[in-house]
Amino acid sequence: MTDSNKNGIFFRDGIFTLQTKNSTYQMKADKFGFLLHLYYGRKMFGNADFLPHQGDRGFSPNPYDAGSDRTYSLDFLPLEFPVRGVGDFRSPAFDVKYADSSWGLDLRYKSYKISDGKYSLSGLPAVYSEKASDEAQTLEIILEDDVAKIQAKLLYGILPKLDIITRSVEVTNLGEETFTIEKLQAASLDFVAGNYDFIKFYGRHAMERNAERTPITHCAQVISSRRGTSSHQYSPVMIVCKNDATENSGSVWGLNFAYSGGFKGEAEKDQFNSTRIQLGLQDEMLSYPLHKGEKFVSPEVIMTYSNNGIGQVSRNFHKCIAKNICRGKYRDEIRPVLLNSWEANYFNISKDSILKLAKDASELGIEMLVMDDGWFGKRDDDNSGLGDWIINEKKIGCSLKELVEKVNETGLKFGIWFEPEMINEDSDLYRAHPDWALNFKGRKPVRGRNQLVLDYSRPEVVEAIFEQMCKVLDSANVEYVKWDFNRSINDVYSYAENVENQGKVLYDFVKGTYSLAEKLTSRYPNILFEGCSGGGGRFDAGMMFYTPQIWCSDNTDAIDRTRIQYGTSFAFPASTVGSHVSIVPNHQTGRVCPMKTRGVVAMAGTFGYELDLAKITSEEKEEIREQVKSYKKYANLIKNGDYYRLTNPFTDETASWAFVAEDKSEALVSSVQLEMHGNMTPLYVPIFGLENGAVYRDEESGNLYPADVLEELGLPITEPMLHFKAYQWHLVKA
Ligand code: GLA
Repeated sequence: MTDSNKNGIFFRDGIFTLQTKNSTYQMKADKFGFLLHLYYGRKMFGNADFLPHQGDRGFSPNPYDAGSDRTYSLDFLPLEFPVRGVGDFRSPAFDVKYADSSWGLDLRYKSYKISDGKYSLSGLPAVYSEKASDEAQTLEIILEDDVAKIQAKLLYGILPKLDIITRSVEVTNLGEETFTIEKLQAASLDFVAGNYDFIKFYGRHAMERNAERTPITHCAQVISSRRGTSSHQYSPVMIVCKNDATENSGSVWGLNFAYSGGFKGEAEKDQFNSTRIQLGLQDEMLSYPLHKGEKFVSPEVIMTYSNNGIGQVSRNFHKCIAKNICRGKYRDEIRPVLLNSWEANYFNISKDSILKLAKDASELGIEMLVMDDGWFGKRDDDNSGLGDWIINEKKIGCSLKELVEKVNETGLKFGIWFEPEMINEDSDLYRAHPDWALNFKGRKPVRGRNQLVLDYSRPEVVEAIFEQMCKVLDSANVEYVKWDFNRSINDVYSYAENVENQGKVLYDFVKGTYSLAEKLTSRYPNILFEGCSGGGGRFDAGMMFYTPQIWCSDNTDAIDRTRIQYGTSFAFPASTVGSHVSIVPNHQTGRVCPMKTRGVVAMAGTFGYELDLAKITSEEKEEIREQVKSYKKYANLIKNGDYYRLTNPFTDETASWAFVAEDKSEALVSSVQLEMHGNMTPLYVPIFGLENGAVYRDEESGNLYPADVLEELGLPITEPMLHFKAYQWHLVKA
């Protein structure tokens, strides 16, 4: 076995090779020092440096080094880290502006370093490895512009067993003159040939992450967020596949940006039919000055490849995020079944209402009560109070300590809601520090949910909120925090004295959020943090570094949730998906569907409830008691099993999915019927992921099913069918 047959990072014959279990990534610095991208795809042995093509092509300029060779042009060569200014007219990954407002970069290869372990990024989330058995390695490649005195250090991390390759870039000003970074994409991939599709996840508040697949053609397709957060509107995730790839077959690449601010993803087929894919920071509203000696670090893109279809790319992401992004005690622990007060009481909360919920919940086996919005400052609706994180004892009727003690006496843990980056004008904090809110100078602010955004690019603002939160968290036995963020950022203007360039603010804001998250999670390692942004407006791998679960959507309607959770599953594991059973008619859609359906759908995530238990019948209560028991029975399989999408709820008659144990000994298959018609045609649920050749027994009926038949034709639904009804089978290898 030669070096390059093993997993790891190798440099041989001038070629860098990154080998993971099932994929290979290759690049090389050519004779002029330009770093060419050679290959990323199914595992191969040997070199792919025969791929880049040459030719004398009109309007494709030639770098001076090429002399009279008109066949060498960066306009069509596959490039590892494309920049503006060397004759490549495709989209650059990196762009700067100099003091005289000119631009242009010429980065050439200088050196490399390979080391064991996975790099980390200061102040930013990043994939980590804590075990030598991960075989993680890091490659650093240094490129420099000798005239502009700019260094780009390209960082690559590999987790070979998970087929994960990460990318980030660190830019350093080696010169005397200040320049500004105008664009920095951590990942750029050039494919010299082939026809590809792009799967993206678009949406809106309460309807996040709808999957849409389109061919990549001769025009740029862009997904992005200009909202200062990763957003409800597009997820910072790109799945790119050969146009014949399916859920279970074919070549698929996944790119997942571990960042919670604005982003941009681009896909374009160029004039010569090569395809460029990029993902990284949003370049609009980014203009980041770097003075002599300063560094700027790009957040990381997590990449994975599979030639076994889209489903496998998802499972690679799931494993990486669950174990190598999520941190803390709750990374590995089954999360408590919670009851959240929001849809039960909204702002109308008090000691009595919270204790009533806790008491009712404890009788049903629920393990934690979360007091949502409305407990602090002057907060009877969403027009005031944000920024004043002090319990309103008058409204609640007692201190937080007393309330939590009483909740604990019912046998439940206690959790609480915060919205740390926000401020209402009607708050003591705003009255004391109006300049702590982002707001264009001389203009009235643009309000969202009648609130403004605190200027987290200022460390003193982050510190002040941290201190307020610590006082609350230190005063009582709080075991869970829901961290919300309920508007998009509009007024990107900081009043901080040291901001000489407002183009820094959005990036520094996100780093401010991360600094607060780091301080809180290290000071309170036993608290379970759940992210939220009006549901899933900040549902990204960046936040998951701090909050191992995130409220997936404000939409609790089980039918809509099958689609939202389907889209979410392409890049994120069920263990990160906050999902609750709520009341019917549903508060967002008015739809009525059975309790079982609501339970089965919520079980495809971190399970909980969000309803007033006093408003349901004793039969429904009994159903909840059974549901909690059943969730607990399957919780380990749901958290640690492999996830398979069995149907597409946007086009199929059912939404069906399965959690399959890693050793394939058992599977929990769930299906929700989305269509019902007169004289209904029979429905079969196709089941993938079981062990071929094996036979499985349905635990409830005792029926035996050969795995291969389930995969080829499916499991028939034999119960009487009904619109929105859910079916669940626990299959155990016979
Ligand atoms: C957001 C969240 C909800 C709830 C409310 C409280 O909309 O997504 O779950 O916490 O805020 O105001």
